[in-house]
Amino acid sequence: MSAHTDWDDAGWNDSGSDHSDWDADPGQKLRRKTRKPQGRRKLADLTGEETDDIADDTIRRLLDLGHLTEVVCELKSGKEATAYLAETVRGPALLKIYRDFAARSFKNDAIYREGQVVLDQRARRAMESRSRKGLEMLQFDWVMAEYAHLWQLWQAGLSVPEPLVGPHVKTYAETVPAVLMRLIGTAESPAPRLSDVRLTPEEARRAWQQSVQGMADLLRLGYAHGDYSTYNLLWWENTVTIIDFPQLTTRANPNFKELLRRDAQSLATSFRKHGLQETAEGTLREVQRRALGPAPEPRVVLP
Ligand SMILES: Nc1ncnc2c1ncn2[C@@H]1O[C@H](COP(=O)(O)OP(=O)(O)OP(=O)(O)O)[C@@H](O)[C@H]1O
Ligand SMILES: [Mg+2]
Repeated sequence: MSAHTDWDDAGWNDSGSDHSDWDADPGQKLRRKTRKPQGRRKLADLTGEETDDIADDTIRRLLDLGHLTEVVCELKSGKEATAYLAETVRGPALLKIYRDFAARSFKNDAIYREGQVVLDQRARRAMESRSRKGLEMLQFDWVMAEYAHLWQLWQAGLSVPEPLVGPHVKTYAETVPAVLMRLIGTAESPAPRLSDVRLTPEEARRAWQQSVQGMADLLRLGYAHGDYSTYNLLWWENTVTIIDFPQLTTRANPNFKELLRRDAQSLATSFRKHGLQETAEGTLREVQRRALGPAPEPRVVLP
């Protein structure tokens, strides 16, 4: 899930857009951007593109349903999803909208899905055939899985963003193909990924300790992240937050051990940039040791 876009480090996309696409649309609550989100594209630039009908429709629906009050700008466009900075009645949010699954590569999917049982035979066949209906089902599952994981991990006290819709499944099903969660950082300055920051040796140590602890906290609950590296770890006020959960796998998956080992490897490798020379084996041992240790304090979610 760690696609890197060619405009990650680019400045504003100065394609001459004057936001008129959005302003012309009555009832749209998209704020005209006056702030300067460095290194990010303007929402209007994106929504002017024909390919983003799904994002447009989803945003409109979420505004109508009241889940969002406005969409401020696009933060990042990855392989599978686009991340937007949005506002909600509960504060600044990260809105992650998945792309049409028809355009998705299923190359690496099988390894995560193994061990999952789809009891409905017709649904299973549709998914396997990759028919339009089957793809819709797969996407629905994928997005619902991200929410379910977020809720579980958040309630268990892990360092993950708070999901902003739910915890009832019916409520968060309304937002598919989008996931809405609390923004880490501030609206003016969203948290960077650990892969994008420069750390002092002491900060690097601290970030490493927290990242190993985060992987151990997941393992204690029976999970391997499946894409655990500094590309999916945010850094804000000396604290690591884990993101990106659709491919989380459990011990029911026959590839569980291998996925866990791969996570330890990617974590160790991605921290080299910060001057740490840890091995995959050493990292995995430490994660396993900590997984037997104390768990974080659970969070209480009031009804
Ligand atoms: N809660 C959050 N607060 C702040 N920023 C976030 C949050 N969640 C995600 N992001 C930003 O959005 C980007 C995309 O999120 P995520 O990693 O979940 O999606 P993805 O489909 O894997 O995208 P990519 O392929 O770019 O990794 C992240 O790299 C991060 O910069
Ligand atoms: Mg990611």
